[in-house]
Amino acid sequence: MVKAVETRDLVKRYEDVEAIKGITLEIEEGGIFGFLGPNGAGKSTTIKVLTTLLRKTSGSVTIEGYDIDKDAREIRKVIGVQSQETILDGDLTGRENLTLQGHLQRLHGNALKKRVDELLTLVELSDVADKRAAHYSGGMKKRLDLASTLVHKPRVLFLDEPTSGLDPQSRVAIWEHLETLNRDEGVTIFLTTQQMEEADRLCHRLSIIDHGEIVVSGSPVELKHQLGGDTITLSLANGDSDGAKDRSKRIVSGVQGVTKVLDIETGLAAYAKNASALVPDIVRLFDENGIRLTSISVASASLDDVFLQHTGRRIRSEELSKVDTWKRHV
Ligand SMILES: Nc1ncnc2c1ncn2[C@@H]1O[C@H](COP(=O)(O)OP(=O)(O)O)[C@@H](O)[C@H]1O
Ligand SMILES: [Mg+2]
Repeated sequence: MVKAVETRDLVKRYEDVEAIKGITLEIEEGGIFGFLGPNGAGKSTTIKVLTTLLRKTSGSVTIEGYDIDKDAREIRKVIGVQSQETILDGDLTGRENLTLQGHLQRLHGNALKKRVDELLTLVELSDVADKRAAHYSGGMKKRLDLASTLVHKPRVLFLDEPTSGLDPQSRVAIWEHLETLNRDEGVTIFLTTQQMEEADRLCHRLSIIDHGEIVVSGSPVELKHQLGGDTITLSLANGDSDGAKDRSKRIVSGVQGVTKVLDIETGLAAYAKNASALVPDIVRLFDENGIRLTSISVASASLDDVFLQHTGRRIRSEELSKVDTWKRHV
């Protein structure tokens, strides 16, 4: 079967920066695939190369079986692209924006009119279709932007951080539209994101990308399972004074059931099945060794933990998992 996207050793170098350092990817048709990574990881560069907006330095790319060096025109016909920057014209209404996109794609007349109506319904903008886009909220603009990438019924849709900057409610609305589009119209989706929650919720498969390289790939469930259960996050009262971190690491590693212990800025992250049950033991051991904890909390392992395991950093260090199931202060 033809792959939606296939790359081999893809490299993109800007003058003095190697933004993509040899990416090999195979994306099946029909799924939602994600690139999860921090700012500067090379996500936008990859999207731009795959969608023919930027020329690659080396390596190979095929989209829906078309080779990017020979069939760029064919590729443009079967893909839709939403870049990080919006392409909307605020002076035009939502309907006019979509119609204009249609004209650019050489669609006209009743077929176009029907498609525009369909898309306005899909992204729930029918009520405001005849208002100028400049008056739309951020979420509405993103939805219109999304609709404008769909006018020509692309088979593969590329979305560069489709919900960045949106409030939680608008984010969920976009997720639902993307799921509908994927399920009902069979559109393959390739999206980039910095948000674990988005990657976790939407992606059937994902790759974590850092410094222009793929560090790990799999389904969100697989990736989280590899960590071996829940996360126990420990914060040390006195930071790393007197080698407290090293001693703490030895203590926690010795607790039966703990599969892995990693350094984080404020202390340690440990992984274990049934982690809540281990907390009393850990607290006791710290007491006995005279190491003070400011907090200890348990949460389900998140994709952020996966990122941490493979890169030694959190995507955003201040944004720890929000699904704490158990938290206490010592
Ligand atoms: N036009 C450009 N010229 C030079 N360097 C660039 C350009 N665009 C991006 N970069 C660099 O390439 C790297 C990857 O950037 P980018 O693909 O935008 O990452 P992301 O989308 O993951 O934030 C960064 O180091 C960035 O500074
Ligand atoms: Mg980007």
